[in-house]
Amino acid sequence: MKGDPRNLGFATRAVHAGQEPDPRTGAVAVPIYQTSTYVQHAVGEGAEFEYARVQNPTRWALEKQVAALEGGHAGHAFASGMSAIACLLTILQAGDHVVISRNTYGGVYRYVSRILERYNLAFSWVDTRDLAAVEAAMRPETKLVYIETPTNPLMDITDLAAAAELAHARGARMAVDNTFLSPYFQRPFEHGADFVVHSTTKFLNGHSDSIGGALVSRTAEDAEWFTLVQKSAGAILSPFDCFLVMRGIKTLAVRMERHEQNARRIVGYLAGHTKVRKVLYPGLPDHPGYEIQKRQASGFGSMITLEMGSYAAAKSLLDRLRVISLAESLGGVESLASHPASMTHASIPPERRAQLGLTDGMVRLSVGIEDVEDLLADLEQALA
Ligand SMILES: Cc1ncc(COP(=O)(O)O)c(C=O)c1O
Repeated sequence: MKGDPRNLGFATRAVHAGQEPDPRTGAVAVPIYQTSTYVQHAVGEGAEFEYARVQNPTRWALEKQVAALEGGHAGHAFASGMSAIACLLTILQAGDHVVISRNTYGGVYRYVSRILERYNLAFSWVDTRDLAAVEAAMRPETKLVYIETPTNPLMDITDLAAAAELAHARGARMAVDNTFLSPYFQRPFEHGADFVVHSTTKFLNGHSDSIGGALVSRTAEDAEWFTLVQKSAGAILSPFDCFLVMRGIKTLAVRMERHEQNARRIVGYLAGHTKVRKVLYPGLPDHPGYEIQKRQASGFGSMITLEMGSYAAAKSLLDRLRVISLAESLGGVESLASHPASMTHASIPPERRAQLGLTDGMVRLSVGIEDVEDLLADLEQALA
């Protein structure tokens, strides 16, 4: 397309943002610049492109695309969601404090509790659904409120606008892990966030064939800092992975619609099933976060957590599924099922999992875009 797609609709931006035709050939798909370095004309003249850890046109195209979808100033792409989060947390200095959702992805808990806390950084793990608890946890040295909503796998919903207001009133900033909903359904900057992080491994790439992460910042000043960290620490996303994620993002709008359509049918079936004790899905009107989610997002996504009542019941379901595969991760075109307590959240000590309500009987489903009748039949035979 000609011109700036920033004011166009979401699906148009997903297809076109950052995807300018290649200046030399007019190639519609951004080429994979699989090079480590660039020839320079003469000593002392410098060049726009010098070394590919710092400058890579394929990565820049993806970074623009993600920033345009989230509505941020700039994006930075990393080798994993965890390295995007690690880059974000470099805004902290020794002595700083963070208020963080008590139920984040298990890897975030591991990174914070085993690594960052050694560097004189303090973290308060708070049920961020409870705004009074967020307020009570704030300290003079609180620099960041870090929120996952919906949480993985408990599906807790935090009121983003209210949390941002609390953070800003105390001079702190707010980061949101938007992996579960993607910018198609939820755009945290519209609710006051200062930073958005993604595991692009999930819905953004959407095809379970790349590990990656993105960090989007609201201001030029923060973006400048992350550019420095990205080039210095160097955990960049490879050109080929950037290509895969860009390609995935182009179909994000249609995939998310189908993911959610399938999820709603499955929730409808499972919510009435005698062998399922409870279905955690923010699109169910009796979910405690339903009203907030309706207000701050345009959809409910395709992540569903089931409480089966016991480890044996969870295992029985997981062992019998045929179309839906037992695997960690989520957000791909194929439906996956996992056992959070022993898989994605195994790095959280059992007593802490118990405090959170993350039980051994939980099964997490990432509903894909297959024919929903096949998914329903698979669940039916596995539960029979
Ligand atoms: C919500 C969420 N954030 C971050 C991550 C970490 O991303 P990655 O595995 O790409 O490092 C994950 C991984 O499962 C996740 O589910």
